[in-house]
Formats: sequence, C-alpha cells, structure tokens
Amino acid sequence: MSYGYLQMKKMGGDLDIIIKKYKQGKREDLIPLLQEIQEANGYISEEAIVKAGSFLGLSTTKIYGLATFYDRFRFIPAGRIQIKICRGTSCFLNGSQEVINKLKEEIGVAPGLTTRNGNFSYEIVSCMGGCHNGPLLLVNGEFHTHIKPEEIPELIKKLKYVIDND
Ligand code: FES
Repeated sequence: MSYGYLQMKKMGGDLDIIIKKYKQGKREDLIPLLQEIQEANGYISEEAIVKAGSFLGLSTTKIYGLATFYDRFRFIPAGRIQIKICRGTSCFLNGSQEVINKLKEEIGVAPGLTTRNGNFSYEIVSCMGGCHNGPLLLVNGEFHTHIKPEEIPELIKKLKYVIDND
C-alpha cells in the first residue's frame, strides 16, 4: 500500500506567490483563491485568511463567514492520512453512516478534526461521482469502493503501518 500524498504533503505552497496571481481588491476571487491555498497547503491557516483579506479588502470575519459556508474548506491542518467518506444519497442508502461511525471509533476524533499526532483526519463529503460503487471512501486520493464498516479496523491498521514505515 503506498499513498503518494504522504510525499505531497511535505511540499506546501507560498502564500504570497499564490495571492499575487489574483487581482487586488477583486472580491469574487476569494473562493478560487482559498481553494488554491487549500490545494497547496492542505488547509487554510489564520495567516492565509489575514493575507487574503488584506489583499482583497475583506475583513477576516467576512472571509470566515463566507468560507465556512463551503464545507470543503479546512481551517486546521489535515492528517498525513486524509480520508473522505461519502454521505451522498446513494452511499447513505448503502450504509455509509455505519462506515462513518466505525471511522470515528477507530480514528478517535470527530469528522473535520485531526488526531493529536497529526496522522489521521477524515471528512464527510457529498457525492463523489461514483454512486454505483458506494459506499465510497477516498484515502489520500485513492478510492476504496463498496466499503463496509467491518473493513475499517484493518484499513486503519494498514495505514498506521504505512505511516510508521514512511
Ligand atoms: S452518493 Fe456517494 S459517490 Fe455518489
């Protein structure tokens, strides 16, 4: 099992370089800008919010208000292993809630949070476009299809092994 994201995550993106690609004061750039920051860094830091705000002429409160409306934005660093579990209608009907419950039990934190050691985080997302293969789980960009709750303990065990041997 190899997860390329363990490597990717070491890269990071320079905030100033990203921000300068956008036009100063153009507020409609906020969402694409935040998306780009998150893609480069895995989350949107407080520093990024402040810098984006002063560049676009928006208060940090306004940015948080707008950004939290979109559930795809993270404001704390993701785990080295980042899991997304689908709770779209089809996956839900095929048992994704039981998978979510098992993930919570095995990882030990609520969705959207990261374990203290920084190893794991998971998010509940809406349809990922593979409904007929659900419940669908995405682990650092790799799909696991038809996932069952009883498969989660073994998966987490394997992922811990990957982290320990990285
Ligand atoms: S509902 Fe889960 S992939 Fe579509």
